[in-house]
Amino acid sequence: MKIYAKQIFIKALLLYLAVAWMIFSIPVYAEDNVYEPLQEMKHPADNPWSKEKEELGKMLYFDPRLSGSNWISCATCHNPGLGWGDGLPRAIGHGQKELGRHSPTIINSGYSPLQMWDGRKKTLEDQAVGPIGAAGEMNQDYAELVKELKAISGYVRFFGEVFGKDSITMDNIGKAIATFERSVVSKNSSYDKYWQGNKNSMSKNAVNGMNLFFGKAKCSICHNGPAFTDGNFHNIGVKQHGPLKVDLGRFNESKDDFDKGAFKTPGLRHITRSAPYMHDGSEPTLESVIAFYNRGGDVEKNRSPFITPLELTAQEEKDLVEFLKALEGEPIMVAIPQLP
Ligand code: HEC
Ligand code: HEC
Repeated sequence: MKIYAKQIFIKALLLYLAVAWMIFSIPVYAEDNVYEPLQEMKHPADNPWSKEKEELGKMLYFDPRLSGSNWISCATCHNPGLGWGDGLPRAIGHGQKELGRHSPTIINSGYSPLQMWDGRKKTLEDQAVGPIGAAGEMNQDYAELVKELKAISGYVRFFGEVFGKDSITMDNIGKAIATFERSVVSKNSSYDKYWQGNKNSMSKNAVNGMNLFFGKAKCSICHNGPAFTDGNFHNIGVKQHGPLKVDLGRFNESKDDFDKGAFKTPGLRHITRSAPYMHDGSEPTLESVIAFYNRGGDVEKNRSPFITPLELTAQEEKDLVEFLKALEGEPIMVAIPQLP
């Protein structure tokens, strides 16, 4: 109940701001950039971090034996070499079938309060076991998987070291994978360095793009905070592509008309690496994303009042792209683990 009250409050506030902005032209967005660095990753009390748990989670993440076909791992769709996404508009799952939505990057997903484009999963632990059992994704029977892993002596040993004796359960598989995912973080971007004092780390064009992002282009209304997301859901007027004719997004969860066609605001750090973009992968490049915003989106129905034509010049569009590039952190190194 509490969470709904909060949602309604946030929506009322958003609506009020939108009306105020439209009627009085009150600048409700920050003209000035407020720099917020990413905090240290927090781990939940019921799943504390340990190096061994992170290593076990990494093995499970890269292990195709978690799928029914023994062909698909988490890394098939969230591949470190493809910005921890899959480089495709929509994911290809079990039996080579195209799914309805784009595989989001898992970079910085440890900072998200809700998981999935519609926010239907509350924790990474809970999220991680979902795709394993989903018929369209990894198509694995949970009891079968537990049996299979119990027959691999290396896993018996590693689970034993991390969780204690006889501890190969779906719950612990989820906990280990989630712990690994929390290590996948994008930090120390040129943007961070700029605000930490190195004013040469961003080009003039990128700095101009930053001022547009927090000003004229209104991006920071939704892409704000340390990870460049408000953690909320908005309909920005994407024209649905792919096998789904309609995707109601957040509405499926909240049953609130306001949420029809609304999707989670993605974080923007390291976004350079995980093209194509949007919940249906309909925008191939960052340039096309900016062109989309500049024309005020493509579908009017239920669109957020904040999405309006921006009247950016061609140079301003380019500068915004330069700014998004400056959000790319240092390379996220991962050594592919040896599987037991
Ligand atoms: C067949 C491709 C596929 C596989 C395999 C797969 N995923 Fe995903 N993943 C997706 C898609 C598509 C979504 C978005 C689904 C949605 O929003 O409805 C997603 C969403 C997520 C998210 C939410 C990210 C966010 O920003 O909301 C996380 C985390 C994640 N997957 C982790 C995993 C893990 C861990 C595994 C392995 C246990 C896995 N995925 C296996 C395709 C896949
Ligand atoms: C009203 C809130 C809102 C505003 C304003 C907004 N965005 Fe977004 N942004 C979103 C949402 C929600 C999505 C995902 C929409 C979808 O997939 O249907 C998104 C998607 C994106 C993506 C694709 C990310 C990915 O992983 O697929 C980029 C890049 C992006 N926005 C950049 C910008 C820029 C640059 C601006 C300013 C010109 C901007 N956004 C303004 C809410 C907003």
